Amino acid sequence: MRTFNWAILGLGTIAHKFAQDLALVPQARLHAVASRSLAKAQAFAATYGVPHAVGSYEALLALPDLDVVYIATPHSEHHAHALLCLRAGLPVLCEKAFARSASQAQEMIEAAQRRGVFLMEAFWTRFFPAIGQALEVVRAGAIGEVKHLVADFGFASEYNPTGRLFNPALAGAPCWISASIRFLSASFF
Ligand SMILES: NC(=O)c1ccc[n+]([C@@H]2O[C@H](COP(=O)([O-])OP(=O)(O)OC[C@H]3O[C@@H](n4cnc5c(N)ncnc54)[C@H](OP(=O)(O)O)[C@@H]3O)[C@@H](O)[C@H]2O)c1
Repeated sequence: MRTFNWAILGLGTIAHKFAQDLALVPQARLHAVASRSLAKAQAFAATYGVPHAVGSYEALLALPDLDVVYIATPHSEHHAHALLCLRAGLPVLCEKAFARSASQAQEMIEAAQRRGVFLMEAFWTRFFPAIGQALEVVRAGAIGEVKHLVADFGFASEYNPTGRLFNPALAGAPCWISASIRFLSASFF
């Protein structure tokens, strides 16, 4: 099995967690990191033993042997950063929330389709064993026909008006965060 060379675009909180966990995946190697600050990228690369560190997101596109980019910027930026990579023919794993709007999401999907490259939202809960088990129960008809599913996710966070959770410029909400996701059973099952 071949090893995939990953890059991380945007080196905030989740990027560190991703780098730590990627080290546990046998067929994955952290090949490059990109930040708006070269010093930050170099410090990150030194921490995780990453061979390439660049001081702009655009500079990532010129690196050789890159297989896939993990986009870890605030979701206000996902559309622009995903298009940057996809239009260069680079597959993308994009953090959630995927985009600011359905039209942005559609444009990202079309860009991936046009270049024939992989694009996915980093919706990791979808891969929890518990979700797989729930799907098995539903598919087996153990609870009858499912008409509707409601899932809620919420947490309390320290108020930081400039951070991505509260700052409207970063598509944050100026109040306690509570995300609610509703799926129609038809689209989920
Ligand atoms: N999957 C999960 O469980 C999970 C958990 C937490 C967060 N997330 C998602 O991951 C993404 C990043 O979250 P985070 O908590 O890591 O955010 P964060 O700590 O604020 O880091 C975001 C990074 O994005 C870059 N960036 C680019 N443009 C920016 C701008 N205009 N303003 C601020 N930063 C900018 C910065 O990196 P540079 O300075 O290096 O360029 C910054 O460090 C969000 O979409 C969030 O929803 C997912």
